Amino acid sequence: MGQQNTANIKETEKVIEEVFRARHATKEYKPNVTIPEETLNEILELATTAPSAWNLQHWRFLVIRDQDQKDRIKPIAYGQQQVSDASAVVVILGDLEANLTGREMYDGLLAAGFISQEVHDNLISQIEGSYKSQEFARDEANKNAGLAAMQLMIAAKAKGYDSGPMGGFNPTALVEALNIPARFIPVMLITIGEAAASPRPTTRLPLSKLVINESF
Ligand SMILES: Cc1cc2nc3c(=O)[nH]c(=O)nc-3n(C[C@H](O)[C@H](O)[C@H](O)COP(=O)(O)O)c2cc1C
Repeated sequence: MGQQNTANIKETEKVIEEVFRARHATKEYKPNVTIPEETLNEILELATTAPSAWNLQHWRFLVIRDQDQKDRIKPIAYGQQQVSDASAVVVILGDLEANLTGREMYDGLLAAGFISQEVHDNLISQIEGSYKSQEFARDEANKNAGLAAMQLMIAAKAKGYDSGPMGGFNPTALVEALNIPARFIPVMLITIGEAAASPRPTTRLPLSKLVINESF
């Protein structure tokens, strides 16, 4: 039984590692591929398992699947063809007022008896105090939504789809085109679909360049 478990864990590790290594930033998609809504929702739901500061879940997903709408966004993404050809373009939004989620969530937990008044008040005071700074709010929106974005791409690969993160777009034009409320900032676009070509090989810096042990 113990051996069986060890074998299963090793197999799971291998599969997870394969998913990580198989993800590449996809720039060419087969057009006219539809991702079933159920699968897309599973991918988005898996993305929401990302951690976030105070569990404020700073991410929102603006999902674009309509061909005309994708074609409208393409020039805003400086003409990058993958926006038109991908099955879906997900605009990852970051919440600049995530403190409001905190209030709602921790009020609920207090009402349900899961946290004490003292814990509730401490958390709310920490959160509201921090969110007085616009710079803090923006950093948190970008940082935490970025974690969900990464999970979304890994989840897509695990479900057999390719993806590509994109920062190459005009944020002002995107906000205007999609009526994005002032509460949210576009953090990045993620295209999802079926790759039409093998990904361009990329390399990574070696750990010897990346890891600093204990201190500089
Ligand atoms: C924040 C961010 C913005 C990016 N913007 C673009 C983009 O606008 N267009 C594009 O083709 N690739 C974009 N990329 C993809 C990178 O070029 C790609 O991830 C990198 O070259 C490594 O490739 P790999 O992920 O396939 O290993 C972006 C990646 C990130 C993380």
